[in-house]
Amino acid sequence: MLTHEENELLTRVGPGTEMNELFRRFWLPALLAEEMPAPDSPPVRVTLLGEELVAFKDTAGRIGFLDKRCPHRLANLFWGRNEEGGLRCIYHGWKYDVEGNCLDIPNVARSDGFRENIKTFAAYPGIERGGLVWVYMGPKELTPEPPEFEWTHVPDSHRYARKMVLPSNYLQSMEGDIDSSHVSFLHRLPSYGPAAETLTGIGNPLMSQDRTPRWTIKDTDYGVMLAARRAGGGDDSYYWRVGQWLMPSYTIIAGKRDAALHCNIRVPIDDEHTIYFRLWWHADRPLSEAELDDLKHAGIMMPEIIPGTFVPVENKGNDYLIDRETQRTLSFTGIKSVPAQDFAVQDDQDGPRMDRRLEHLASSDAAIIQVRRRLLRALRELREGQEPPEAHDGARYSVRSLDMELPKDVAIEDGGREYMTAKV
Ligand code: FES
Ligand SMILES: [Fe+2]
Repeated sequence: MLTHEENELLTRVGPGTEMNELFRRFWLPALLAEEMPAPDSPPVRVTLLGEELVAFKDTAGRIGFLDKRCPHRLANLFWGRNEEGGLRCIYHGWKYDVEGNCLDIPNVARSDGFRENIKTFAAYPGIERGGLVWVYMGPKELTPEPPEFEWTHVPDSHRYARKMVLPSNYLQSMEGDIDSSHVSFLHRLPSYGPAAETLTGIGNPLMSQDRTPRWTIKDTDYGVMLAARRAGGGDDSYYWRVGQWLMPSYTIIAGKRDAALHCNIRVPIDDEHTIYFRLWWHADRPLSEAELDDLKHAGIMMPEIIPGTFVPVENKGNDYLIDRETQRTLSFTGIKSVPAQDFAVQDDQDGPRMDRRLEHLASSDAAIIQVRRRLLRALRELREGQEPPEAHDGARYSVRSLDMELPKDVAIEDGGREYMTAKV
């Protein structure tokens, strides 16, 4: 149970809040690279941490995120022309570079001396890595290192990502990933098909045979390692599913040796909306046809998206297309895709931003408790003037998840160490 103050600290993300400041200390994934495919491609709207921005890639390939308001008469720069090294407002033609400097004021005869003092209200740098476009919204002198996730180093063919916009607070959505116990219930179904089961381990019968996992939770230099231990297939083994939570809002879902691994990313839009990236990768090989087919088309591991939007087809407005007959006879939920099963419960847990004072947490929720503590600690430290160390040491993010059986006398840290270290 959290106090009201703690819940507010963790979930309020708008300008002026402490969580806003903490998120600003990190590079934040904001767009799929394909949303900004080439120099001078159309500008893109993006709202992050309660700030409305326009992102663009200039003629030289530099990326900037500008406050959406043109400093002249506050027209929205989203309508602007991205041309010759800057974004030109369509109202009166003023033009800005990726750093927010005004380059041209074509509707004034002698603009020199005036133009030099015009800057957009905000301008943040962007970079492209791992198939995503990232933004840094914090103080320039504290510019962090990008996190060295394994998936930021593999070729594009080894990775697949989707982006969604969810109508819930980032923490609500993220806590679902560190709630290993729900997998045995919410996602229960006799079969998801071979590709889905290889991708997640979700169909592993050991998951449903033992629905009371024991947790080993370890604070690490990147976040928290969350190891759920279940009874193994034999008398001498345990079945381990190890997920990772990384500062400030990444999870790597437990995944099998030799299968593609799965990273989820939540970036707050505002208190009640979240950008959600769902990303799969393999360190050594391109994703297989079967894997990609499942991710792109089957609608089990990746929900279908309404074309031209980032809204899942199964959404709150249509009750996630729940089928009560399927719920009675086949699956636990009657909801088709695994992510939509999550959305159905997470979009409305006491509404889009839950009051954690009302919960009754049990021992199965130990991981959730630990991650909240870690975030609260980071907020306290930042308040006391200590910068988050994870933001300045990208190498800490070179970790993986795990899904394997180990002999009972082998500790997970030892038996899983080699596999949990990223290869690149
Ligand atoms: S409002 Fe943008 S140029 Fe006038
Ligand atoms: Fe889930």
